Amino acid sequence: MIILMFGPPGCGKGTQACEIVGLTKITAISTGDLLRGEMKAGTELGKKAQDIMAAGGLVSDELVNDMLVSRISRPDCKEGFLLDGYPRTVEQAKFLDGVLAQRGFPSPIVIHLDVSADLVVGRITARKQCPVCNRIYNTMYQPPKNPGVCDFDNGVLFTRKDDNEETVRERLRAYDRLTDPVIRHYSSGNYHKLDGARAPEVVFEEISGLLQRELVGHA
Ligand code: AP5
Repeated sequence: MIILMFGPPGCGKGTQACEIVGLTKITAISTGDLLRGEMKAGTELGKKAQDIMAAGGLVSDELVNDMLVSRISRPDCKEGFLLDGYPRTVEQAKFLDGVLAQRGFPSPIVIHLDVSADLVVGRITARKQCPVCNRIYNTMYQPPKNPGVCDFDNGVLFTRKDDNEETVRERLRAYDRLTDPVIRHYSSGNYHKLDGARAPEVVFEEISGLLQRELVGHA
């Protein structure tokens, strides 16, 4: 099974990805997390991505595509995977189509979480993340049991550098510029637009229902 999570910054892609992994057992890959990992490791790719990400822009298709292929070539992706934050451009979508076909994977299930810009700015500026397991929290909506510490591994939660209002607005502009063509690319396929403004557990209930139907359909 291949799942693509699509939607504006802060719509809940990472939050839902975590739950979907619990349900399907497939590997979740966030291109944002991969890029932050490269930055932390001080690689050439990380250095190239650093300023672009800090300004809220998009890293080049070529760099992201190469990084993606390298990640999905690992054994934990043999049975399928979920992509959070990829593809973001039609070029990336076409590239992914080719890679999936070449490797004999099925067409993707595309889950689009629709949320308004004002709501996501509020969510993102209250986000905290665990550096160990990448789990996502929110000081307003989903706080950890103990402030500042991950419930699962005691990782000290951090705030992403691009989670300030100015950068979030720029990320939203980048998303708006590229959204329609990417949606058009997938709209004739297995595409599902969901209302992401509801509580996380309500959104997951709907996702879970549609994935169960997919699993039964392919049994
Ligand atoms: P990336 O890391 O992918 O960031 P993003 O797409 O901007 O999305 P976010 O991670 O901010 O949000 P999310 O939808 O995962 O929401 P979350 O679940 O965390 O990309 C960062 C940068 O990397 C890009 O700007 C770009 O520069 C670069 N990049 C990455 N991929 C690229 C690509 N393919 N091509 C080129 N460049 C690329 O939720 C947000 C908050 O809301 C959390 O605090 C959460 O607890 C809370 N929340 C979630 N759901 C709900 C809910 N239903 N109700 C209330 N609160 C909720």
